[in-house]
Amino acid sequence: MVENRIGECESMPAEADAAGEQGAFITVEGGDGAGKTTLAKSLAECLRQSGRSVRLTFEPGGTSLGTRLRALVLDPELEMGDWDETWLFLAARASHVHDVLRPAIANGELVFSDRFSDSTLAYQGYGRGLDLERLRRLSDEATQGLIPDLTLLLDVPAEVGLARTRTRSSDGDRIGDADLAFHMRVNAGFRALALEHGERIVVIDASLDASSVLLNALTTVNDWLEARSSGT
Ligand code: TYD
Repeated sequence: MVENRIGECESMPAEADAAGEQGAFITVEGGDGAGKTTLAKSLAECLRQSGRSVRLTFEPGGTSLGTRLRALVLDPELEMGDWDETWLFLAARASHVHDVLRPAIANGELVFSDRFSDSTLAYQGYGRGLDLERLRRLSDEATQGLIPDLTLLLDVPAEVGLARTRTRSSDGDRIGDADLAFHMRVNAGFRALALEHGERIVVIDASLDASSVLLNALTTVNDWLEARSSGT
């Protein structure tokens, strides 16, 4: 899949080939089935081809502890309260931040994370209905104030996203299997976050074909990198 769309990488302007010694933190967010994982892999591949040092990671996961916590928090056989669920995501995030994200950014890498704090606000805040301010405070503690430089929000109607996930996997997923109304609240939450944080969140129409989504995402990342290097 990645190879089929690698021609899109040619859209990276030559300026993007300059070695990116300064680290950056870019997150890819969106509802279930929005295509984040595929996009993040393709983006990372394109940017590596342009000579950058790229790290691709994800949540929940990205560390040994995060991998174990992921299995727990998504286990459909396990019942847990909404705050218990939140603590598990936050614990996974805390280890991800100090073991993976901060060292990689400090090392000058271009770090892509498939999900980060906006997911907690969208799923546990808007989706589960937990208090947003408390979530923000706790999330801030878990991340020790780490905020993405840029967030690509893949926006697709919840019914389209769910149709994609439900055809590709038969494994249960405690959160993905929640009802359509929950996923619609999550998507509305992501859009609200994009309005609130227009300085870093860019909405990308993920109902388009995969090549167009990749091209739009690459252009966004490249524009951001250029703006940073020219100090605008
Ligand atoms: P992921 O594997 O990225 O799911 P998908 O590929 O289907 O998008 O994430 C697992 C699930 O965990 C997903 O349903 C979103 C949810 N999630 C939260 O509810 N809160 C969080 O803070 C994070 C990081 C994920």
